[in-house]
Amino acid sequence: MTTRVIPVDPFDLVVFGATGDLAQRKLLPALYHRDAAGQILDDARILGVSRRRLSDDAFRALARQAVCGPDADLDADTLTRFLGRLSYTAADAGDDAGWPVLAERLAERPGRVRVFYLATAPELFGPICDRLGRAGLSRNGARVVVEKPIGKSLASARAVNDAVGQHFTEDRVYRIDHYLGKETVQNLMALRFANALFEPLWRAALIDHVQITVAETLGVEGRAGYYDTAGALRDMVQNHMLQLLCLVAMEPPGSLAADAVRDEKLKVLKSLVPITEASVAERTVRGQYRAGASHGGPVPGYLDELGDPTSRTETFVALKAEIANWRWAGVPFYLRTGKRLASRESEIVAQFRPIPFSVFDASAGPIEADRLVIRLQPDEGVKLWLNIKDPGPGGMRLRHVPLDMSFARAFGVPNPDAYERLLMDVVRGNQTLFMRRDEVEAAWSWIDPILQAWAASADRPKPYTSGTWGPSAAIALIERDGRSWYEGSE
Ligand code: BG6
Repeated sequence: MTTRVIPVDPFDLVVFGATGDLAQRKLLPALYHRDAAGQILDDARILGVSRRRLSDDAFRALARQAVCGPDADLDADTLTRFLGRLSYTAADAGDDAGWPVLAERLAERPGRVRVFYLATAPELFGPICDRLGRAGLSRNGARVVVEKPIGKSLASARAVNDAVGQHFTEDRVYRIDHYLGKETVQNLMALRFANALFEPLWRAALIDHVQITVAETLGVEGRAGYYDTAGALRDMVQNHMLQLLCLVAMEPPGSLAADAVRDEKLKVLKSLVPITEASVAERTVRGQYRAGASHGGPVPGYLDELGDPTSRTETFVALKAEIANWRWAGVPFYLRTGKRLASRESEIVAQFRPIPFSVFDASAGPIEADRLVIRLQPDEGVKLWLNIKDPGPGGMRLRHVPLDMSFARAFGVPNPDAYERLLMDVVRGNQTLFMRRDEVEAAWSWIDPILQAWAASADRPKPYTSGTWGPSAAIALIERDGRSWYEGSE
């Protein structure tokens, strides 16, 4: 099966932080792949900017490394065409040098789509936007893309949004949450809104609870400095996990227009029941990994990696969220995410309620409640667990088995990286998969009291051994309610 590629308008994409980790690991490879797919027209340009002094050619050499990796076998003509789009300017938000050169380069192609991607430390978002504003570069429909973390709290997120908003109107600000660019996350919308089957069942009367797990096997991978100022709640829950929760819980939007979708997500965020000092111990668990095993070998604990035995930063969170509205009242949403867990698995589980009455006698065996599992990564797909009759003679015995659709098997095409889709959406001017200011701030309004309650408590995060499923308290969190975490094969 082939995918349909619609080329985007010619653009100038300026990447600030072009020599940094995000640009090298994600942005340049994503752009290369879109170029190779024929989505980028010949005249499009990619302008790298960072503080380092580099020639255009030296930047192209870096980009070649980023795109090729150690052993990628790439088409030489496509690579030459892609590298030919690149140029480089050294500029620093803190001084005037370089900015006139960038302005001159951009002036060579007036009137085209212009995008500034801030792949830099968040402290630079404001100063870079100020520079762009003063140089007159933020006008004429120019768009700006910002990455998380957008602040560390509601107040600091507002400050970042204000600083960006001074130069770019909201319809030109693209706040990336790369989870929204993942194929299966978009499939959640297809599953819910392109099928008549699930939507009538998608409510408290039929759904017992929802689980969202984003489990990683990696540790903090040389990012301990940043990570220690964030922790799993800020790094994963405030953005990715709450976005997933919104897509599961939102009302059907009137259309897929950006604001129609974002209005519905905002209503969910505003309906989240606050977790306060009084409920934090019962509704949240934080953990921190200790030494253990991962990928078949020993790994150090978080505190050793960080070199600070006193850190109380959590590398694992499990929590019970509740949504106070007609559709979801009384349906817990259990969220868990962590680093150095037993396997890399991200999935959403909608657990249906048991049948109200059984016509089968005891010899049929137990009747399990139905369950829909949406697998985000790896092995993207959907499993619908149902009861069927065990085949063959010998009476009526029931078995719980999944209708199993693996997207890789069904479509035979690899999923593009989330950034490929999102970068092209910015050029197309489609904000549906980007977070609006009020969404980000509503998410922080729910997260802030949890952070404050944790800070006020004398408890430390509970230790867990690397390579396990987190602290036992996370199991108790759900089992206290008579439920358990989904384990894949039941
Ligand atoms: C990032 C977090 O936003 O998402 C990382 O900062 C995390 O800590 C990553 O590892 C997970 O993304 P993915 O796409 O690998 O699931």
